[in-house]
Amino acid sequence: MMAAILVAGGAGYVGSHTVIKLLEKDIDVIIADDFSNSDERVIHAIEAITGKTVKSYAVDLTQKEEVRRIFDENEIIGVIDFAGFKSVGTSSKAPLAYYRNNLEILLNLLSVMQEQGVYHLVFSSSATVYGNPESLPVKESDKQKPTNPYGQTKVMSERILRDLAKSDERWSFISLRFFNPLGAHKSGDLGENPNGVPNNLAPYITQVAIGKLSELKIFGHDFPTSDGTSVRDYMHVDDLAEGHVAAMEYLLTTSNKFSGFEALNLGSGKGYSVLEILRAFEQVTGKKIPFEYVEKREGDAAESFASIEKAKEFLGWEPKYTITDMCLDTWNWQQKHPNGYNEA
Ligand SMILES: NC(=O)c1ccc[n+]([C@@H]2O[C@H](COP(=O)([O-])OP(=O)(O)OC[C@H]3O[C@@H](n4cnc5c(N)ncnc54)[C@H](O)[C@@H]3O)[C@@H](O)[C@H]2O)c1
Repeated sequence: MMAAILVAGGAGYVGSHTVIKLLEKDIDVIIADDFSNSDERVIHAIEAITGKTVKSYAVDLTQKEEVRRIFDENEIIGVIDFAGFKSVGTSSKAPLAYYRNNLEILLNLLSVMQEQGVYHLVFSSSATVYGNPESLPVKESDKQKPTNPYGQTKVMSERILRDLAKSDERWSFISLRFFNPLGAHKSGDLGENPNGVPNNLAPYITQVAIGKLSELKIFGHDFPTSDGTSVRDYMHVDDLAEGHVAAMEYLLTTSNKFSGFEALNLGSGKGYSVLEILRAFEQVTGKKIPFEYVEKREGDAAESFASIEKAKEFLGWEPKYTITDMCLDTWNWQQKHPNGYNEA
């Protein structure tokens, strides 16, 4: 058996890009995903892009026996946990489903890791742990005040990791609180593939550009920002994937002698307004993107962007791509695969 990294939720948007980066570094990967928010064809896309075969398990990770089976059948040396539900809006309507899924996955992974003596885990947390930022840029030491159950699951997950790390110094955890990923793989064969009407800005804009949706709805135009629309921190999904790989490598490098828990922001460190992103997409696509202003969403902050100094120092990680790169790659993916992984 080859020593491998278990990537939970590895068929998802960020997970699949991270799997490619791991494979490109000749790090063996096992993917576990129930495909509830992804597609089995993502595995084929990863294999076609990398020229490598990937072992994957179609399993619900809230089933502990399934998690145990993966560990029994493979030599897992570390885990990256992307698996979970991620819609802020749905989490307020179905909090139990969110708490159950997001927490049970992590608890199962950790219990089986403990049974098997595997002590390194990178966790995908989120900027939503901060809620409405008190000051900018947002630092890791800032207060955590999530405004929805989704964000709470991330705060609770980090709490679990902290407590566990205190109980036994063999554990080492890095929680990556990331801001807004954009973009797609350079090949145009892997990208964000939302079910139904997209929640996120980029797929919404490109679906308008390609004519699948009629116009972009912009939530609020009277925020205290330069153009009245809300400002967020966007980074290329490949930069984010590199951040996850750097974190896993950091944990696996014994000379770092790292034990315990560390939370790191990943972002570009810069803020862009919705209109700035829209204009960047217009330039890249050469199309006018119609939009209308609608009511602000409850709890939406005017402005949020990250301080990324800690990640730079800790991991030596820095984002490489620009907003134009992010728009170009999203557009390339959307044009090559207007119906996601469905051919027609
Ligand atoms: N995309 C973002 O904007 C963003 C921002 C901050 C944090 N995050 C976090 O990063 C992680 C990955 O995000 P993403 O955008 O790639 O999401 P995604 O939905 O594309 O990926 C999550 C994957 O987990 C799988 N999954 C869900 N429940 C499962 C279960 N019970 N068993 C097995 N697999 C299960 C889904 O099928 C999906 O493939 C998530 O934890 C998310 O909360 C995402």
